[in-house]
Amino acid sequence: MYILAVESSCDETACAIVEMSESSRRILSNVVATQIATHALYGGVVPEIASRAHSEAITPVVREAVEKSGIELSQLDAIAVTFSPGLIGSLLVGVSFAKSLAYDLQLPLIPVDHIKAHTAAAYFVDQELEAPFLSLVVSGGHTSIYDVSCPHVFEEIGSTRDDAAGEAFDKVGRVMGLTYPGGAAMDRLATEGFEMIENGAEKIKFPSPAIPDETLDYSFSGLKTACINYLHNYRQKNELGDKDELPHSEKCLVAASFTEAVVGGICLKLKAALEKTGAKTLVVAGGVAANSHLRRAVAEVCEKAGVKLCVPPLSLCGDNGAMVGAQAYFEYKNGVRADCTLNAYASGEAAEAAAELMKFEKNN
Ligand code: KG4
Ligand code: ZN
Repeated sequence: MYILAVESSCDETACAIVEMSESSRRILSNVVATQIATHALYGGVVPEIASRAHSEAITPVVREAVEKSGIELSQLDAIAVTFSPGLIGSLLVGVSFAKSLAYDLQLPLIPVDHIKAHTAAAYFVDQELEAPFLSLVVSGGHTSIYDVSCPHVFEEIGSTRDDAAGEAFDKVGRVMGLTYPGGAAMDRLATEGFEMIENGAEKIKFPSPAIPDETLDYSFSGLKTACINYLHNYRQKNELGDKDELPHSEKCLVAASFTEAVVGGICLKLKAALEKTGAKTLVVAGGVAANSHLRRAVAEVCEKAGVKLCVPPLSLCGDNGAMVGAQAYFEYKNGVRADCTLNAYASGEAAEAAAELMKFEKNN
């Protein structure tokens, strides 16, 4: 079936057309308009600006996705949209657009959870990938481990109790003077930093984000604060003002030491999760799954544990429409449909209430 999928939960306006069936999963087009340059001016996403930018971008993005797909609107079988979690004003733009399109084309409308969608990007990497599997979703807003028993049933078995890994990367990056979002730049600096450490430079000791108990939970706020305090102390000791550039070598060492703590902590709980569940396949998804050091480390964990690893290419790690289309296919097969009363939900309780409501609608 052909699905047109819309994503607008944060700062990317995205639309894709995917072809999904029992035997194959194909991306026909995948257009992403990022607002990063605008938000970089403010050092983070400004919700009001994000919603306005989505309103401006959504029509051209959807049009481009249709043009690039090589199919006609009349060939579509369903419209999918991210309805939760995310910035409420941003989500509403995508949801309203998708509702109008579904109504106009008289097509089924499929609401999709953003976190499940991140995981679903993996279906394009491995055409054979099938639940059950474990999924680690590491993004700017989430860091959780899910036991995915069916493509639409996610049980959270571990999660961050405070900041998400991506948020920690971005906040530390900001204090280091990197442009928002700092994750990708931290990745590159860390590569240089690890080389320096190999050649004898001393790494900085930061606390692990793995909570030292039997849970599979993380806490990134202690690590983030320790790293930021280190940077403030370094500036004081070296008489650098807030606006003064840190020496490049110091940035590299901090990035490597911070990354080592993040990656080590994530992998510690991941190993425990694999042992606890006996899972045979692991998916790692979300924006931070683009991190080269994390990719390498989870590959090692999986190799040692004899677990199959499935990580999307960089182009499918960040927010995009194709991942929404993939998850929508499985939701559709499970009977999930929405109508013109579909609403958007920012997070937590509201999203759960929405899920309950949808179950109710499905049962009726
Ligand atoms: O999944 P995503 O695009 O949006 C959310 O749903 O949050 O993730 C964005 C996050 C940002 O925090 C960004 O800094 C981080 O992913 N990120 C990275 C890398 N590339 C993107 N973090 C670490 N290393 C990277 N290479
Ligand atoms: Zn995301």
